[in-house]
Amino acid sequence: MERTLVLIKPDAVERGLIGQIVSRLERKGLRLAGLKLFRLDRGTAEEHYRQHRERPFFRELIDFITRGPLVAMVWEGRGAVEVVRSLMGATDPLQAAPGTVRGDLALDLACNLVHGSDSVQAAAREIELFFRPEELVAYRRAQDGWLGFPEA
Ligand code: RTP
Ligand code: MG
Repeated sequence: MERTLVLIKPDAVERGLIGQIVSRLERKGLRLAGLKLFRLDRGTAEEHYRQHRERPFFRELIDFITRGPLVAMVWEGRGAVEVVRSLMGATDPLQAAPGTVRGDLALDLACNLVHGSDSVQAAAREIELFFRPEELVAYRRAQDGWLGFPEA
């Protein structure tokens, strides 16, 4: 089952949008496998965004993502990586389509509310960076749905 890392960034937490963002992912049919609210330290933020470390906006990006509490989540389901990226919308909210999180709720490029892993490989790396294995729920496939846990 495909998994992806989603961050509700500090701007979204500040604006009281946690519920709306979680709700959109739930309504799509993705399952929540892990969730926590905390303030990211600079070291982890720099590791998370290491692909951008040479870019001119890197320091601003690290300042922003560490400025207050964020919500880190793991969501799973069919095509979860791509599904989350399409529900979030384009990186620049000016280009993000209506109906997406960024298209509906954001305007600023830096304060674009959410992060979603951009590939299955990135998702595996990012999930490991944010969660210990025991913090994630392992759902068990039941006859007609995802009902419980392996140990339940
Ligand atoms: P994210 O990683 O945060 O989910 O966003 P993304 O994949 O849609 O975009 P990415 O290319 O990974 O960029 C990471 C964040 O850096 C900021 N950014 N600023 N000033 C600029 O030209 C610029 N380009 C990107 C954005 O806030 C983006 O979310
Ligand atoms: Mg990215």
